[in-house]
Amino acid sequence: MYRSMIKSLEFTVSSPEELMRLGTQIAPMLRAADVLFLIGDLGAGKTTLAKGILSALTGKTDEVTSPTYNLVHIWDGGAFEIWHADLYRLDGPAEVAQLGFDEAFERCLTLIEWPDRMGDLAPDDRLDIKIEKTLGARKVTLRPMSQAWKDRLHAP
Ligand SMILES: Nc1ncnc2c1ncn2[C@@H]1O[C@H](COP(=O)(O)OP(=O)(O)O)[C@@H](O)[C@H]1O
Ligand SMILES: [Mg+2]
Repeated sequence: MYRSMIKSLEFTVSSPEELMRLGTQIAPMLRAADVLFLIGDLGAGKTTLAKGILSALTGKTDEVTSPTYNLVHIWDGGAFEIWHADLYRLDGPAEVAQLGFDEAFERCLTLIEWPDRMGDLAPDDRLDIKIEKTLGARKVTLRPMSQAWKDRLHAP
C-alpha cells in the first residue's frame, strides 16, 4: 500500500551550518508530544542538529548548549515545552526512568541524544534521525518508526 512505502529520507550536509539549517527546516513540522531520537557517534552532529531545531522554535541560538552534564535542558517553545536530553552518561533504563520522560512524551517535544540508554523505555511512536560521519560531510537519515510518522513525512 502506498502510504506505508516511505522507509527513510536521506540528506547530505557538508558543514555544521548546513546541519543546523536542516534542523530549522525540520522544526516547523514538529509539535507537542513528538519524540525525536538523535543517533550517532560522539561528534557526529546530534547537538548541532538540535541547535537548529531549538533556534527555530525558541528564537535562541547562542544559548543552546549540549545537555551532557545536566542530562536535560528544558526550553520554552511557545506552544509547548521542549526537552533536549543527552543520556550519554547514564548506564541504562533504570537511570533513565529517574528523569521522568513519561510526562514529556505526553505534552512536550522531546529530543534525545544517546537514546540507546533507554532500552525498553523507548516509545514506539517516534522519528529516528541518524547522523553518520562521511569524508568531510555528514549523512543524515530520517527514519519514521511509526505509521503516524510515515504519514507525516509523506505529506510535508
Ligand atoms: N558536516 C558537519 N556537520 C556537523 N558537524 C560537523 C560537520 N563537520 C564538522 N563538524 C563538527 O563536528 C562536531 C559536531 O558536534 P556535536 O553536534 O556536538 O556532536 P554530537 O552531539 O553528535 O556529539 C562539531 O564540532 C562540528 O563543528
Ligand atoms: Mg551532543
